[in-house]
Amino acid sequence: MQEQEKRILPQTLAGLVPGLAGKKVLLVGDVMLDEYLTGDAERISPEAPVPVVRVFGERHVLGGAGNVARNLCSLGGIPHVVCVTGTGNGAERMDSLLDKEGIERSFVRIAGRKTTCKTRVIAGRQQMLRIDREDTSPIGADALDELLDHVARHLEAHDVLIVSDYGKGVVSQAFMERLTALRDASSAKPLILVDPKTPNFRWYKRVFMLTPNAKETSEGANLPVGTREEIVAAGQAIFDSLHCERLLTTLGPRGMALFENRQTVWHIPTMAQEVFDVTGAGDTVIATASLSLAAGHSLLESCMLANCAAGIVVGHVGAATVTPAVLTKAILQGMVPVVERWL
Ligand SMILES: Nc1ncnc2c1ncn2[C@@H]1O[C@H](COP(=O)(O)OP(=O)(O)OP(=O)(O)O)[C@@H](O)[C@H]1O
Ligand SMILES: [Mg+2]
Repeated sequence: MQEQEKRILPQTLAGLVPGLAGKKVLLVGDVMLDEYLTGDAERISPEAPVPVVRVFGERHVLGGAGNVARNLCSLGGIPHVVCVTGTGNGAERMDSLLDKEGIERSFVRIAGRKTTCKTRVIAGRQQMLRIDREDTSPIGADALDELLDHVARHLEAHDVLIVSDYGKGVVSQAFMERLTALRDASSAKPLILVDPKTPNFRWYKRVFMLTPNAKETSEGANLPVGTREEIVAAGQAIFDSLHCERLLTTLGPRGMALFENRQTVWHIPTMAQEVFDVTGAGDTVIATASLSLAAGHSLLESCMLANCAAGIVVGHVGAATVTPAVLTKAILQGMVPVVERWL
């Protein structure tokens, strides 16, 4: 008879956490700058009916694929980041933020292209405005060659490669085809994990695992994902169109559905938890699962660690990260759900 549930002892899962330290992950994707300008707003502008914000503070954080890198570092992993920037101040700032975290990187600097930057203007506790500076057009042929040269140079030293697609021009059909060709031709044959962006869905062919959220799963499969049966059917449609080896659909408060293959689906629920801010939970999932796979842990163990780590970051404000100590403590305090077979 088929197993209908799986139980992992908290001690067993916690025992895997130290193995994450020192593991390497190659990370290719859309690194962004998150800029926060903070101040007060006490008058209306004489020029137009808008508040005037007096800025007192300014803070910069790595976002997008950069947040995946932060999550990898926080768990003790060693990411190497390959990304695209412009040539101005934004690129310098990104460089120094990566430096501060001790993250190795290979930049493709493109003259005339904007370094993706999202600026939030905050007065008191109120966000007043967001200003986006970005170029989302696909990068040109020369830049793509350079990007893939960087990837090729680092591929053999890695067992796991993340594609963190925020739709800012790195990922294209040509990029995915050439990336999987590089993987096939390598001797390391790193596992490719993709955090997808809906418009690019059809290009993620023949990768190891995709980690879409419920909405991306629905849009990627062009099917609804309300019920358990619908989630399974949508996942199967993704297997049929993309020929991935595994699929991890994240379901927000419902945890995750792990497709070991088209016919074997496990449900990993979340444990009760106070939720403050779900921003960046998806980044935590792919970072933790990738690092755990790089450490040689099983897929289910890796996804359970990822689920637990994501459950911790949603309890914090902003794009939070998790340390091995915090993850271990949460696991031992009972954040280990029973995994139920869905198919
Ligand atoms: N409300 C919640 N309660 C508990 N865990 C949650 C909640 N929301 C998210 N999580 C955890 O985070 C994981 C990823 O969440 P979600 O499916 O919302 O990803 P996402 O939409 O890609 O997130 P984001 O785009 O904000 O980074 C879930 O699988 C779960 O483990
Ligand atoms: Mg996401």
